[in-house]
Amino acid sequence: VTRRSVSRRAFLGTAGAGALTAATVALGTDALGNPPSAGATVPRDSAAVVPFDGAHQAGIVTPVQDRLLFASFDLVSDSRSDLVRVLKDWTNASRTMVLGRQIGRDNDDSDLPPDDTGEAVGLGPSSLTLTYGFGASLFDRPGDPFGIAARKPAALVPMPRFARDEIQPEISDGDLAIQSCADDPTVAFHAIRDLARIGRGVVALRWSQQGFGRTSLTDAQQVTARNLMGFKDGTNNIVVDDTDALDEHVWVDRRDDPAWMRGGSYLVTRRIRMMLEIWDRSTLGDQEQTIGRDKGEGAPLGAKLEHDTVDLKATKDGELVIPDNAHIRLAAPAENRGVRLLRRGFSFTDGIDPVTNQLDSGLFFIAYQRDPRTGFIPVQRNLARDALNEYIRHDSTATFACPPGVGSSGYVGETLFS
Ligand code: HEM
Repeated sequence: VTRRSVSRRAFLGTAGAGALTAATVALGTDALGNPPSAGATVPRDSAAVVPFDGAHQAGIVTPVQDRLLFASFDLVSDSRSDLVRVLKDWTNASRTMVLGRQIGRDNDDSDLPPDDTGEAVGLGPSSLTLTYGFGASLFDRPGDPFGIAARKPAALVPMPRFARDEIQPEISDGDLAIQSCADDPTVAFHAIRDLARIGRGVVALRWSQQGFGRTSLTDAQQVTARNLMGFKDGTNNIVVDDTDALDEHVWVDRRDDPAWMRGGSYLVTRRIRMMLEIWDRSTLGDQEQTIGRDKGEGAPLGAKLEHDTVDLKATKDGELVIPDNAHIRLAAPAENRGVRLLRRGFSFTDGIDPVTNQLDSGLFFIAYQRDPRTGFIPVQRNLARDALNEYIRHDSTATFACPPGVGSSGYVGETLFS
């Protein structure tokens, strides 16, 4: 079985993806004069397709799906041509998988291992998105074997150490990342499994994280989901039709360097464990003061409805209604020089902590931004005195430069390697 067979079959899938792009994408252009990202509006059913190709990568403003499998890889080859070949094969396989089709050509030959592992057959596309990113270590590799050191984005800075961080390097960062999201867990899993197979010998899995129950909303039509603390999460997120906010806060644009990142975005992930046993013993009043919203409706304290304006100045009996150290105050744009992040996190549960016999569960926080130096990093610094810190621990961090989307004949990362 050659890699070529993957490419050829996937090439057939490309025409179909192009047609679907035209059918599902809303009209209009972004700051770069490009049509908006593929799959901006999709219905939620197993037949729903989010096209892979587009001005921006899918999986960023795409309405958040129900399931995540995030995978970080390290390069085990020092060959630039191997790396580019894998990126091309991944692109072709991605175009095929998002259509719900099997990859490869040899899937019915009893004398060969099938090209596609087969577990997603019959499950439909399920809004699968595959979003690719490059880590700082790819650019910093000794000897610059890939010839990209000079193209490293300044925005790809090492993540500073924040107060209370308990970061484990073995589940952090990586040379390459793929965020696989779908409305079906097997579909999200299958994509990473088969992409890892395609990359064997060139890339090796470094760490992965699965997630469920989207904790953010990126589409005003979506009902706000709740995180594992029981609070609605994503109320004040940037939504897909707020194109001004996306241009200002999410997409790297023509004012930004390097040019190969224009139309892309920077991804920051944090695995945040929740000390649920402590949280569950705190009173409803304490929980609400910690977040700054009421638990049932999700309204800001002092207001009635979920989407009521957050009034950070309101006082009652001389006290701030939304406490000084409430999460939504310290994370608010008004407290962060107007910074907004596009959040796209998922809940996780990874068995138990054998020392405490408690669930190892929490939020796999995902944020996209135009520049982490003005996005996640200062916001996280501002959260140093967040009341929520008593109940959470960050144990993994990762930053990736996610290049722009690809045209129907391009490959992911083409702007970096061409
Ligand atoms: C386990 C950890 C966390 C939990 C449980 C959590 C929970 C929440 C909740 C319930 C809200 C209110 C609803 C909403 O507007 O989405 C919220 C808002 C927000 N959170 Fe978090 N969050 C966590 C970590 C973080 C981190 C690490 C950041 C960024 C550094 C962050 C940034 C934000 C922002 C920007 C808002 C919106 C504030 C606004 O504009 O009103 N959160 N979070």
